[in-house]
Amino acid sequence: MRALFLRCFTCHTLDPATSNLPGPNLVGIIGNGIWTAEKLDHYIIDPMSVVPGTTMAFPGIRDPNERSELIDYLVSKSRSR
Ligand code: HEC
Repeated sequence: MRALFLRCFTCHTLDPATSNLPGPNLVGIIGNGIWTAEKLDHYIIDPMSVVPGTTMAFPGIRDPNERSELIDYLVSKSRSR
């Protein structure tokens, strides 16, 4: 588990068998038709202003290097399904 993803992991999982967390399962999230790496990058800068009314109470990640590392990780997880 990458340290960065721990910030998301309180509410999300990458384990297809787990579904008892507040946020949706993020397995295969990249490329599912809605989310691209670019959209996700934009979203996690500041989720609550990019998607007004989202119930995802996350302050966002401002550092572009941290975001790209996190997204690379999610992409690799999406591909290895
Ligand atoms: C405080 C809990 C919490 C944290 C922390 C959190 N999320 Fe979420 N997330 C949610 C909830 C709840 C939703 C559903 C939002 C909605 O439906 O409005 C969501 C939705 C999402 C979605 C949209 C999923 C879909 O099916 O369209 C993505 C992508 C996402 N989160 C990514 C992340 C990433 C990446 C992180 C870490 C940087 C993160 N989240 C951190 C609670 C959280």
